[in-house]
Amino acid sequence: MKQVMLLTGAGQIGMAIARRMGYGMKIMIGDKKPENAQAIAKTMSDAGFDVAPVEMDLSSRASIRNIIAKAQKYGDITMLVNAAGVSPSQAPVEAILKVDLYGTAVLLEEVGKVIAPGGVGVTISSQSGHRMKQLTPEEDEQLACTPTEELLKLPLLQPENIRDTLHAYQLAKRCNEKHVMAESVKWGAKGARINSISPGIIVTPLAIDEFNGPRGDFYKNMFAKCPAGRAGTADEVANVAELLMSEKGAFITGADFLIDGGATASYFYGPLKP
Ligand SMILES: NC(=O)c1ccc[n+]([C@@H]2O[C@H](COP(=O)([O-])OP(=O)(O)OC[C@H]3O[C@@H](n4cnc5c(N)ncnc54)[C@H](O)[C@@H]3O)[C@@H](O)[C@H]2O)c1
Repeated sequence: MKQVMLLTGAGQIGMAIARRMGYGMKIMIGDKKPENAQAIAKTMSDAGFDVAPVEMDLSSRASIRNIIAKAQKYGDITMLVNAAGVSPSQAPVEAILKVDLYGTAVLLEEVGKVIAPGGVGVTISSQSGHRMKQLTPEEDEQLACTPTEELLKLPLLQPENIRDTLHAYQLAKRCNEKHVMAESVKWGAKGARINSISPGIIVTPLAIDEFNGPRGDFYKNMFAKCPAGRAGTADEVANVAELLMSEKGAFITGADFLIDGGATASYFYGPLKP
């Protein structure tokens, strides 16, 4: 038997983290697009990692339970990397809420039930969650603590209260951060930790869709005018994940880490201010 890492979302960010932390483990790679899971599995297997690609859909509890059951055949799940998601230019409001908000919440809940003592997880949120205006303490608590099957019925997530796909994405990512806080209490009872990472613009196929989408100029302006003056790379996100998932991060749980080259700071107090 081996220790098992569950990687959901066979994208560049997920692979960078899996390569940093998954040596010596069995890595289950789940993605809605089997060809994505297979492509990353091939790259990683060619580099010496022990991987198994699986088709899975983050927006389905049954699919999440299925990949967990498959993973457990290899051993205890000790690591979770959730890097599956759809961006505002890729999907309509409903799909963004179903995948990024509901799906992430279900995954944290289901893996939280089986994570081994000493286990660690990270889920990829986004700087977008930090951009939105503050919600009320009551709304934040609803996003954190509402039972997963009730989440999408919350008044603030109803279509009449969501302006566009970007707003849906912001709400989903804010929900992820709040949900990680609430889940960390449950994971802690099992001796496990869970955190989120909120990247700014990281060059990946998802981000390239954004550059070529209706908000392309907005994004190009953002990385030109952020303090770092450039977009980020998936490997820099893996640097943060390594801290959070290794022994050095033993005192860090229920937290969110912004890694955005200072774009959010500039958005509030610098040249990116709208
Ligand atoms: N790239 C960025 O600039 C950036 C910035 C902030 C946050 N993020 C977040 O990082 C995460 C990973 O994105 P990435 O940039 O590596 O993108 P990517 O496109 O390289 O990878 C995302 C993967 O998720 C998969 N996926 C989509 N819907 C799914 C579903 N329902 N079930 C299972 N898999 C599904 C896609 O098929 C794809 O392989 C996403 O949550 C995204 O919102 C990305």
